[in-house]
Amino acid sequence: MKVEDGSTLSRTDCRAKGGAPGFKVAIVGAAGRIGQPLAMLMKMNPLVSVLHLYDVVNAPGVTLTLVTWTPVAVVCGFLGQPQLESALTGIDLVIIPTVVPRKPGMTRDDLFNINAGIAVVNLIGNPVNSTVPIAAEVFKKAGTYDPKRLLGVTMLDVVRANTFVVSTSRTSLCAEVLGLDPREVDVPVIGGHAGVTILPLLSQVKPPCFFTKEETEYLTNRIQNGGTEVVEAKARAGSATLSMAYVAVEFAYACLRGLRGDAGVVECTFVASEVTELPFFVTKVRLGRSGAEEIYQLGPLNEYER
Ligand code: LMR
Repeated sequence: MKVEDGSTLSRTDCRAKGGAPGFKVAIVGAAGRIGQPLAMLMKMNPLVSVLHLYDVVNAPGVTLTLVTWTPVAVVCGFLGQPQLESALTGIDLVIIPTVVPRKPGMTRDDLFNINAGIAVVNLIGNPVNSTVPIAAEVFKKAGTYDPKRLLGVTMLDVVRANTFVVSTSRTSLCAEVLGLDPREVDVPVIGGHAGVTILPLLSQVKPPCFFTKEETEYLTNRIQNGGTEVVEAKARAGSATLSMAYVAVEFAYACLRGLRGDAGVVECTFVASEVTELPFFVTKVRLGRSGAEEIYQLGPLNEYER
């Protein structure tokens, strides 16, 4: 075994063990700042039996760091374009994290020219508002487009909204969410994943809770700028990579539960949609065996949200 040949080692490992029953997941861009923590967390996911790690550099090294401990998935590494097809063959779910993070002063749109060239399918890579429609065109050209199966991951906006709502409410009169774990709170966040296109529906928060106009404006602004806050704090050292890895795992878990046939798996995601006049839009979606099986309407909006 050669050290740089971690992919061969792990593929042999895959064949030998066969993998526990479960789904096969591929991460394309597994050696990056989101890819690495994402790979570690996906390896521990009980629904994943085989994990393919693909990247153009360092995939064998990252794979080697994960093959030496047990729970749960068998990990296989794939390096470079010639191994891409093998990395994706027989896979149930492909996760593509962003490749280049933005720097202070950049918008997500500034990543367009950098990441669009390498994005084929993009669940996480920014600008999600553009990379998902581009991926759709690429699939259409290949004759393989299935709008239900192409999902932009925007769950980070929901996670931020749930967190900010709980912490902001500690100083407000909203007793309903006081002391709750953010995971017990649900703020739908619709629209897209950039600036003002990120629209938290605070009027639909569960448990029901009233926010004043000032609180609504503060929270909306904070949620819309959560990513920028991190980019500026990191000062050219990247963006919210660990949070993105976390939501990538949570969203993948929801997709896998849908694929397994679990009932009632509902998440916000950026998907081809007829809910508005826009071809793609973030709304709540029910995930099932064929991907986004039901796209929900926006529900009642208040004047501010409209
Ligand atoms: C985020 O929301 O944190 C990500 O989209 C990364 C970024 O560039 O803001």
